[in-house]
Amino acid sequence: EKDIRILAFESSCDETSTSVVKNGSEIESLVVATQIKSHARFGGVVPEVASRHHIEVITQITKEALAEAKVTWDDIDAIAVTHGPGLVGALLIGINAAKAASMATGLPLIGVDHIMGHITAAQLVDKIEYPAMALQVSGGHTEIVLMKDPTHFEIVGDTRDDAAGEAYDKIGRVLGVNYPAGKTIDQWAHQGKDTFNFPRAMIDEDNYDFSFSGLKSAFINTCHHADQIGEKLDKYDLAASFQAAVVDVLAAKTIRAIKQYQPKTFIMGGGVAANLGLRERMDQEIAALANPPKVILPPLKLCGDNAAMIGAAAYNQYLEGDFADLRLDADPSMEL
Ligand code: KG4
Ligand code: ZN
Repeated sequence: EKDIRILAFESSCDETSTSVVKNGSEIESLVVATQIKSHARFGGVVPEVASRHHIEVITQITKEALAEAKVTWDDIDAIAVTHGPGLVGALLIGINAAKAASMATGLPLIGVDHIMGHITAAQLVDKIEYPAMALQVSGGHTEIVLMKDPTHFEIVGDTRDDAAGEAYDKIGRVLGVNYPAGKTIDQWAHQGKDTFNFPRAMIDEDNYDFSFSGLKSAFINTCHHADQIGEKLDKYDLAASFQAAVVDVLAAKTIRAIKQYQPKTFIMGGGVAANLGLRERMDQEIAALANPPKVILPPLKLCGDNAAMIGAAAYNQYLEGDFADLRLDADPSMEL
């Protein structure tokens, strides 16, 4: 059978990325241009700054992706791009680059959901067997997703307020950690102890939903109170206590969902899936199940935003003939 090669673009937030993916599972090239430094001093992503950076690098990294894969446009079978959810101005840069490439080459265009991309990153690591279940945890999303097949996903649990990564970033600000704070808090957590016993919201509720804003407030109040009375709190213990609360609820709800739905594969995706505490905990708890699913925890590089995951998801759509045309538009609040 003929190999299918997809050139993919991702520009939904603060990374511009291009990739060539073969048969939905093999990364032939992956280029990620990060803008983190430009946003760090603002404490979060500034949409206008993001768009400008995407424009500056996208042509260059398209050439790099082809060169790194040692292919030319003639070897490409389709062009894929994230069209939501994300920042509208940022998404439009990738969409317009993909449309221009599609027009110039005559290659078919595929519009990919960013979240479907994060989850399908697992396909670049190992074969996903269906039904599968994913814990999708990033800066904008915290969801438990049931995957009936490669293109039909259903959200069974969601956050009612903040996303897990957003909570990390917000408490990071209080601790003076630059955006995005998750990785540093994760490292600090390994050097401290859970001494503060922060709330585990909704942990015993009979649903698969989450809430992190109460935890965030409890954390901030604890720090402010200590400030007022001139007490110095241990940042490692604070980080460990925060992380223990996040990991406890994510693990409890996800394990309950796995018991209920009995998936054949369990996947983690999104930036927070890089969290070492969460990875260890999920590994342990799943191994202890009576009928454990196969577990795919993508390497850290594939947990954050990248175009290879978009190429993987696009391949599944390619096989179903799910193509877009030049009317493809950004959908900033797109839902699975
Ligand atoms: O998926 P991603 O790269 O972008 C979004 O689509 O949101 O996720 C970024 C988020 C940020 O909130 C960042 O703080 C968080 O992932 N993150 C982590 C870790 N590494 C990144 N959170 C907890 N622990 C980590 N090791
Ligand atoms: Zn993302």
